[in-house]
Amino acid sequence: MSDPLRMHIHDAETAVLRERIFEYTRDRMQMDPPPLDKGMPFTELRALMPDTITEKGIGGDTAMTLFGDILAPASMSTDNPSMVAFIPVAPTEASILFDLVVSASCLFGGSWLEGAGAIYAENEVLTFLAKEAGLPESAGGVFVSGGTNGNLSALVAARFDAERRRTEAGLPRPARWRVVTSEEAHSSVVQAGRVMDVDVISVPVAADGRMTGSDIENAVGDDWDGIFAIVATGGTTNFGIVDNITSVVATARTHNVWVHVDGAYGIAGMFASSTKKYFDGIEGVDSFIVDPHKWLYAPYDSCALIYRNPAIARAAHTQHASYLDVLTDTDEWNPSDFAVHLSRRARGLPLWFSLATHGVAAYREAIESNNIVAREIAQVIRDSDHLELVRDPMLSVVVFRRKGWSSEQYNAWSDALWQEGTAACFPSKFKGESVLRFAIVNPRTTVDILINLVESLKD
Ligand SMILES: Cc1ncc(COP(=O)(O)O)c(C=O)c1O
Repeated sequence: MSDPLRMHIHDAETAVLRERIFEYTRDRMQMDPPPLDKGMPFTELRALMPDTITEKGIGGDTAMTLFGDILAPASMSTDNPSMVAFIPVAPTEASILFDLVVSASCLFGGSWLEGAGAIYAENEVLTFLAKEAGLPESAGGVFVSGGTNGNLSALVAARFDAERRRTEAGLPRPARWRVVTSEEAHSSVVQAGRVMDVDVISVPVAADGRMTGSDIENAVGDDWDGIFAIVATGGTTNFGIVDNITSVVATARTHNVWVHVDGAYGIAGMFASSTKKYFDGIEGVDSFIVDPHKWLYAPYDSCALIYRNPAIARAAHTQHASYLDVLTDTDEWNPSDFAVHLSRRARGLPLWFSLATHGVAAYREAIESNNIVAREIAQVIRDSDHLELVRDPMLSVVVFRRKGWSSEQYNAWSDALWQEGTAACFPSKFKGESVLRFAIVNPRTTVDILINLVESLKD
């Protein structure tokens, strides 16, 4: 039998390649700290890299050498402790190892028929997250690729529900469907509006950045026609600010609209004793998301999307096709039915394995330790003559300014650190002003690392 892809030939050559990959993986995982590495202009990469996709193939050994020597160093390691830009990811060893197992096991995570065991474990994590938030036992959902898909899928379910209720009440479609969210919400909410062709009402917030129910009432006024959802943020990307969820839920209930919380980064903060209080009211929401690949120490790509009433999401998202009837004509839990997707990797399993390995208490402690580092560096900033906090941190993002600096100076400072491989700390913007921002989600990011960075801002 012809076997061009060597599926059956477990020969010496394949064995050598397998060992090489395991060795690379082992070495990479043992790096403490992992190298920061950095991107490279296309032209430089093009000059370094030979063509790799050829009729005959270049061989796994050569491809691995190119990856290790050129491609990996040209890609930032987000788990380096001095990577504090954007929202980094620092996965536990257990979650990385289990990610390898998920790949090796060829699991289909879309339907119970095919992936019952994997889905059982993923659902245990979703149930645990829902319970921590105080949602009823009947809550459930699915792991999707990221917060963008999580927000979109939740809003699709919300509009489906609003449409159904309108039809049942004999009302015509509204002139426009609309979503309400804070002016500081993540860009993925606006993106979801674009994809769904719905208008997004941007709610101005007070100086502390927390959207409240009365901010929403003021922004919307008397015309609630077509508004089908309010999106609160449980930890804004730029500042880690948690909206006043209790008052947002109260407003949503008054007007009978869905309330979704985008907690892609921040809902992990609900596990830490000092920040749990900011999530009061979350038990009343219709849906929320949290990305394990942000602050729950799991590898890309993973977002837990949870619905209070999964039946609504199922009705909104189930795809129907003759070859799928065997899946959809059952009462079993098919994760494909709860978001905008069909085939899916069982991407909740790395988090499941790591939680099962370490226990929830270790997570609570790790998240709290990130909060503590954030508070300590915030205090250092308050005490410095050359720096100023833009806002007090609520969670583990700290935003500050270097007094008297122009945006060119911020860029030059951050570029120099980046080029020399010391840190990834890029300027952000707040109301048009350049500012600096530490996003602390890596247990290896110590306050000393951050003190060195703020010290280097003196000159
Ligand atoms: C609050 C918030 N929502 C949504 C997203 C989008 O998540 P993803 O990048 O996983 O699509 C992010 C990403 O940083 C975020 O911080």
